[in-house]
Amino acid sequence: MKKNLAAIFFVLTGVLMASVDIQARTTLKDAFKKDFLVGAALNQAEFTDQNTNAVMLIKAQFNAISPENVLKWESIQPRRFGFNFGPADRYVAFGQKNGMFIVGHTLVWHNQTPDWVFQDDKGNRTVERKRYLVDRETLLQRMRYHIFKIVGRYKDKIGGWDVVNEALDDDGTLRQSKWEKIIGDDYILKAYQFAHEADPKAQLYYNDYSLENPAKRAGAIALIKKLQAAGIPIAGVGLQGHYKMDWPTPAALNETIKAFSKLGVKVMITELDMDILPPATHSQAAEVSMNVALRAELNPYTNGLPASVEQAEAQRYADLFKVFVANSNSITRVTFWGVTDADSWLNNWPVKGRMAYPLLFDRNCRPKPAFNAVIQDARPGK
Ligand code: GLA
Repeated sequence: MKKNLAAIFFVLTGVLMASVDIQARTTLKDAFKKDFLVGAALNQAEFTDQNTNAVMLIKAQFNAISPENVLKWESIQPRRFGFNFGPADRYVAFGQKNGMFIVGHTLVWHNQTPDWVFQDDKGNRTVERKRYLVDRETLLQRMRYHIFKIVGRYKDKIGGWDVVNEALDDDGTLRQSKWEKIIGDDYILKAYQFAHEADPKAQLYYNDYSLENPAKRAGAIALIKKLQAAGIPIAGVGLQGHYKMDWPTPAALNETIKAFSKLGVKVMITELDMDILPPATHSQAAEVSMNVALRAELNPYTNGLPASVEQAEAQRYADLFKVFVANSNSITRVTFWGVTDADSWLNNWPVKGRMAYPLLFDRNCRPKPAFNAVIQDARPGK
């Protein structure tokens, strides 16, 4: 009998402790409410309320959202006069209903933009066959039309836009994209002018990866100075934050945030995730077109993450958040690229079909040690 009572007592205390733990657990948005917004990129199943577990998590944890795909050119204007506003409308409505800061991503990019945009009316495709490409004026008109249509539709609802995404190469020079080749260097300036005209109150951002590396950072600084000199009210720079366990160092991150902040613009971490899988390439670049064949040694954690790796990831996240919190005067938002490990693009990039573990919540929507590490870091001195 005594034994039974003791067992019941232990079970009850366990249940009680667990519920205290859950209740006492601060959420991300509360933990950092004095510092910056905490956001996540959402997929359709999330912003249409279908993935109910993830939706609960999103509502509890985040106060900013980004659209993973639905505002990209190929999704929203797949054909020349054919717009597909439905999913983007649902995304914006989700943010409004839940009182979240709504990010627009992205207006002008070299990826996920349909071929027709760059083709003349005969439908000839390649940049190499230059004479068949659309001319500068037509492409500028298409860009203006697209920006006015999209930014205009969500005026006063979308708070800030990644106007141009990834315009720079790793050495800091302008990427030779079709935008650049056909219009010329001033395509960037024009994109910002159009966006500003379309919604003068929206914040305008420049977004890119690897800005923690000195050469590319210098290119971005020069670009922002140029935009400022031309009178563009650029509000912020997005460091995408597709990070690895050994890159960037906290010192490089700190230096990068300070360098942009000195220009009078805010800094955002816009696509944060942690690639803990074995490197498939030598590159740090988050160029989405990379594709490496799957080999078993590139996919070591198909049965879950060993505790030691989970702890290392937690420590790494804590180290990064220390830098974010120390720079909270310059940082307005930290957004994760996905909600749970199941959502992440890193399950399919740069190798298709791996099990990746880059976010703070596991495949069952449970907080990982990295979540606790990040939250605990918010505490000291607060
Ligand atoms: C880039 C883009 C994002 C997304 C990620 C990975 O960083 O800015 O929209 O495509 O790659 O999916």
